[in-house]
Amino acid sequence: MITLITGAGSGLGRAAALRMARRSQVVLFDKNAESASSVAREIESDGGKAVAYACDVASGAQVREAVARAQREVGPVDALFNNAGISIRTPVEAIGEDEWDLMMGVHVRGMFLVAQAVLHGMTARRAGVIVNTSSDFAVIGIPGNAAYCAAKSAIYSLTKALALEFAAHGVRVNAVGPGPIDTPILRSGRTNAQYAQAVAANEARTPMGRLGRPEEVAAVVDFLFSDRASYINGQLIQPNGGAVMW
Ligand SMILES: NC(=O)c1ccc[n+]([C@@H]2O[C@H](COP(=O)([O-])OP(=O)(O)OC[C@H]3O[C@@H](n4cnc5c(N)ncnc54)[C@H](O)[C@@H]3O)[C@@H](O)[C@H]2O)c1
Repeated sequence: MITLITGAGSGLGRAAALRMARRSQVVLFDKNAESASSVAREIESDGGKAVAYACDVASGAQVREAVARAQREVGPVDALFNNAGISIRTPVEAIGEDEWDLMMGVHVRGMFLVAQAVLHGMTARRAGVIVNTSSDFAVIGIPGNAAYCAAKSAIYSLTKALALEFAAHGVRVNAVGPGPIDTPILRSGRTNAQYAQAVAANEARTPMGRLGRPEEVAAVVDFLFSDRASYINGQLIQPNGGAVMW
């Protein structure tokens, strides 16, 4: 089995890479080539098989080149964790067109492009599984993060459309919609005081009273890739400590 993971150099992508490496070769994509290589070295030193590639998922040319190269050098992709993402928290009146386009480019265009690049082979082999990383903000929305919320809703919608279009071709497509998970994205763009405040607010909105761990999302991704999830298709599965219940 070969699993392609985007945003594999950190947080959820890294955790999924370490977990999937127990039962799969892993192909790691990240815009930050050094972090992806470092995760690959971690996996290899543990006896797993991993190859890292630099790839900005928002660039069609880079995605097509990196996917073609990975399939040539490693083999056909059986499973895709379409996960690379960024967070920029900006009030609506201050969101510029560049910021809006970046948010949509990385999340929506990026996940579409990587899925498109692997779906051809999956369809030909009549087998494949894709998990896209959405968010609980896809369904509840939050103030101060409109572009992110819109992008994550689009990913949920894209997931359902892909699931419908490829179900008859032997490919399942689902989304994972994490609640607040303890990864570097939670800290990005925040001072220490703002980070502490964000952690406290997230703990307060979560019935389980704590942030999730990346490994708890990776376990869901692993399940969705497995035959135990063979009848789950087009769904948003939400590891979120009970913070959102639909
Ligand atoms: N941590 C959370 O609370 C949380 C909750 C819901 C959803 N998410 C989503 O989970 C995904 C992973 O986030 P994370 O929490 O692991 O954050 P993270 O910052 O730890 O990891 C994100 C990774 O994506 C990479 N990346 C960013 N832009 C890229 C691009 N254009 N091309 C390729 N790689 C790129 C980064 O270099 C980084 O390695 C994101 O899509 C994020 O929106 C996170």
